[in-house]
Amino acid sequence: MSKQLILALSKGRILDETLPLLADAGITPAEDLSKSRKLLFDTNLPDVKLVIIRATDVPTYVQLGAADVGIAGKDVLLEHGAEGLYEPLDLEIARCKLMTAGVTGQPPAKARRRVATKFVNVARRYYAEQGIQAEVIKLYGAMELAPLMNLADEIVDIVDTGNTLRANGMEPRELIAHISTRLVVNKAAMTMKHDRIKPLLARLESAVKKRQTQPIE
Ligand code: ATP
Ligand code: PRP
Repeated sequence: MSKQLILALSKGRILDETLPLLADAGITPAEDLSKSRKLLFDTNLPDVKLVIIRATDVPTYVQLGAADVGIAGKDVLLEHGAEGLYEPLDLEIARCKLMTAGVTGQPPAKARRRVATKFVNVARRYYAEQGIQAEVIKLYGAMELAPLMNLADEIVDIVDTGNTLRANGMEPRELIAHISTRLVVNKAAMTMKHDRIKPLLARLESAVKKRQTQPIE
């Protein structure tokens, strides 16, 4: 195993909050990520590289050892399964909830429910655990549209302020999981590159703590 450390970062919403934490932990990209079409970046440390990929691909990269460490939302990890990954650190950013939601004021369907979501594995598991028969319909976005268009009775989606639900005549129902961004580590890398990963974890942990104790401006 190469002694290089590859970190897989989720692009999009999480990236902007991840970079300051990494900087606090002593890792900065060698160039401005927003000005580049590159996907693999050098950093200030010669043996640390960053790959910036779709959030849903992060657990796959880490599981298969193409990256040693990954940063992704717990929602993505739950959906993927994240088998064979350690999850040693909660970065406590991009906090939200994974919930069921339905049309405001409309009681849940009694018979087999049609549930639209991009989290099909999470949804299947959740409804099975609740003993509710559900037909899970895979969508790739705009889940809140599905009940409006009579494609589904309810949805499983991320809820933060609840504004998206309200704007579409829906209300949050059951909490499935509290979500935040997690750091995951390939199990083999944790052993083989322990001397590199352990200090990185310690520095990131103190960056997370420092951020929490900072006064809100
Ligand atoms: P993709 O564009 O690859 O489909 P995405 O649109 O789910 O991914 P983002 O919107 O960038 O990606 O969200 C990334 C992560 O941020 C999610 O996996 C979740 O953990 C968290 N998240 C999503 N929506 C919110 C929100 N409204 N508030 C806080 N955190 C959120
Ligand atoms: C996310 C999520 C919800 C919304 C919830 O969407 O998919 O639609 O945020 O947040 P709220 O409760 O504060 O309204 P996002 O804004 O990331 O858009 P996208 O998933 O379509 O990229």
